[in-house]
Amino acid sequence: MVVQRRARHVLAVAGGKGGVGKSVFSITLATTLVGMGYRVVLIDLDLGGANLHTYLGILGNTLSLSHFFQKKVKTLDEVVISTRVPELKLISGAHYLPSMSSPGSSLKLKLLRHIKALDADFIVIDLGAGMDLNTMDFFIAADIGFIVTVAEPAAIMNAYRFIKGTLFRRLHGVFKNHRELAPILDSMAEDAAYSDSLMLNAFIEQVMAIDKAAYPLVNEISAEFRPCLILNKLGDAESKKLVGSLISHCLSKYNVTLKYLGNLPLVKEISSYLLDIPAFLRSSAAAVFQKNIRGIVRKFLLDIHDSSVMVEKLRLIRAYDDDTIKRIGGIIAGLPDDKLTPTEKKLWHLRLYFKPTEVVAFLLCKGIKDDCFFEQLFTTQ
Ligand SMILES: Nc1ncnc2c1ncn2[C@@H]1O[C@H](COP(=O)(O)OP(=O)(O)OP(=O)(O)O)[C@@H](O)[C@H]1O
Ligand SMILES: [Mg+2]
Repeated sequence: MVVQRRARHVLAVAGGKGGVGKSVFSITLATTLVGMGYRVVLIDLDLGGANLHTYLGILGNTLSLSHFFQKKVKTLDEVVISTRVPELKLISGAHYLPSMSSPGSSLKLKLLRHIKALDADFIVIDLGAGMDLNTMDFFIAADIGFIVTVAEPAAIMNAYRFIKGTLFRRLHGVFKNHRELAPILDSMAEDAAYSDSLMLNAFIEQVMAIDKAAYPLVNEISAEFRPCLILNKLGDAESKKLVGSLISHCLSKYNVTLKYLGNLPLVKEISSYLLDIPAFLRSSAAAVFQKNIRGIVRKFLLDIHDSSVMVEKLRLIRAYDDDTIKRIGGIIAGLPDDKLTPTEKKLWHLRLYFKPTEVVAFLLCKGIKDDCFFEQLFTTQ
């Protein structure tokens, strides 16, 4: 099937815990997208623990990320190699160099720039386990982040810690030059090692006391951070409860909506395909796994489509007339208090008369849509 070429999207796969299936999921996701007609580059950014090349059966000496790090090539696309799956390309992480585990910030930025310039429809980045700052930065830089977990307490805890750590890393990136708020975020990060004190509400309290005007931005950052959740090696019904509590904790404590995209079954037969995961996907043992991964991919493609359509529509809006502003004011007033508290409603209502497009963007981030947001589009159709 040939599909229309679209803008490239960078997808990052993380999870916090080791061995939960991040790399297998990365390959499965990439192979499925290729099967749908997309051109995909997989990148192994598990710096120091790379194994995508092994899972793809590429065991000889090839070009790899290390050539880019050592400046043996000028651009990242020079180290893209072919795999047995046509249209699935790989940037291998083989040939570990000590300098790769901790690239300086300028090398990291250069790498990100080169990743975004790769010629592909989707770029799938496989990340390592743990809370390494580089891993969090690559996750933040992606257009869509996937969190892979298994339904075990340790994995769920690590996923939770990764999500809140990444949110605060993102907040820190935005407020790093704020004289009063930056040190508060720093000290909260230190405290978090000993307690769960990194609650968004605690930070928001400080923001309200120090710089009220920054509050909407904080809210926007957390609401916009919407990682996709994949549950791997699915066990019994009890295990689903753990995932439910992960989702509700992320929302109630951090205002982060985890989008649960689906689960993948535990399939013992994978162990016979550890040198060729795409061959596993073609095997009869993978029937349910295949069905589920297709469902997951369809869901996230719809999501991408939905948000790009939204951006298109938003671009068409030039100005909101008074009637529309009143209508949006009514929508805000009618929201339940658990979506927006009465004080927040008051602030956003005031802001509506100042920057209506920003208020609409905020409401969309919160998952609140209304036809009147796109009024210009409908009247010109
Ligand atoms: N759905 C599954 N059913 C059965 N086995 C699986 C499944 N997913 C992954 N595995 C197996 O679990 C092991 C770990 O998988 P993988 O290497 O993808 O994990 P990872 O999260 O990338 O690990 P690391 O943190 O070390 O990078 C592998 O042996 C893999 O074959
Ligand atoms: Mg891995």
